[in-house]
Amino acid sequence: MEKLATTFTGLNFVNPFVLASAPPTESKKKILRAFDAGWGGVVTKTIGLHPVENVAGPKTIFQRVSTEKPYISRMKRSDTVSHSSWNWELISDQPLELWLPDLEEIKNTYPDRMLIASIMAGAGNNEEMDNWANLAKACVSVGCDALELNMSCPHMDRKDMGANIANDEDIIRSILQAVTSAVDVPIWVKLTPSTSTLVDAAGAAYDAGAASISLCNTFPSLPLMDPETMKFEVEVDGLVTSGGLGGLAILHQALQRVCDISKAYPDKAISGIGGIRGFREAFNFIANGAGNLQICTAAMEEKGSGGVGVELIKELTGDLNEFMERKGYNSIEELRGVARDRIVEHAQVRRKSGKYNGGHALAS
Ligand SMILES: Cc1cc2nc3c(=O)[nH]c(=O)nc-3n(C[C@H](O)[C@H](O)[C@H](O)COP(=O)(O)O)c2cc1C
Repeated sequence: MEKLATTFTGLNFVNPFVLASAPPTESKKKILRAFDAGWGGVVTKTIGLHPVENVAGPKTIFQRVSTEKPYISRMKRSDTVSHSSWNWELISDQPLELWLPDLEEIKNTYPDRMLIASIMAGAGNNEEMDNWANLAKACVSVGCDALELNMSCPHMDRKDMGANIANDEDIIRSILQAVTSAVDVPIWVKLTPSTSTLVDAAGAAYDAGAASISLCNTFPSLPLMDPETMKFEVEVDGLVTSGGLGGLAILHQALQRVCDISKAYPDKAISGIGGIRGFREAFNFIANGAGNLQICTAAMEEKGSGGVGVELIKELTGDLNEFMERKGYNSIEELRGVARDRIVEHAQVRRKSGKYNGGHALAS
């Protein structure tokens, strides 16, 4: 499977498949199991310095759609297929001091796999910039190959954190300034898809030294209410908040965001995330410009592997390799962006009359 080896943001990946920051990468045990199964890299569950306590109930649900009288629900029914995950899980509640020896052991055990630490702090003052810098220095000091800055968590009450800051180009620049002056490893920036100024935010991040944009985090969304019981499919004491949708349901939207960034910055790196279940989704991310692929929901849904996608990684690498052999591609780079130039403005697509001017009057 040599054709699957990639260099992405200067790092050598044995294959481009990476477990995204989420429960599959929340502990040393899971990460070691993932590497043993063949994943090319992991982005750890996000590590922070502020207090974290999750809700007193389920943090994630897996929603399925039925074939007969189709509707989406987490309820157990026969003949259903996966639709999405919905979660309101906060970042890791394992403190940095406990993460550090774990990260060091993971890197020493699997030196050829890429270990990317996801980190998150606040914004707007020097203390928070120091928090970013200190998290970065600590993770790099124990051997992490890169960092992913979480500017996309969709369920933070704090207005200076997560998805709440990813629209603000000044904040993006200030965080990158703090981190790039503290460490010398590639910095990936995970932005929220939930903004109309995503391409500008990505541009600000690249300008300020980001080696790659990771996209997408989950999409802000609400769980469904059951009309029979008047309960939300997930709630605590009858209450729920906005959370994040992941899995197949976000694939098309994630591709559109990746393509927008890739068209604006064709030479820059993008790690594609959102709805990858198998080769076909992964292919579409690569075709739209991603050079690296992250997966969460599909790994969590796999039964019997502790939620780290033991069978999934075998299938992904096997199917991508088979496709490249059969079609004569020698590297992922050869495939990267093949869809991009055929995604155009609406008016550039042929009309029967041949005279459409994008909704503007035709010049007489
Ligand atoms: C339960 C759960 C927890 C997550 N926690 C984090 C996190 O701590 N940091 C982060 O950057 N993304 C987090 N994510 C988002 C995932 O990394 C990923 O971006 C998202 O799920 C889309 O990928 P998917 O469609 O393959 O699930 C989480 C997702 C889920 C489902």
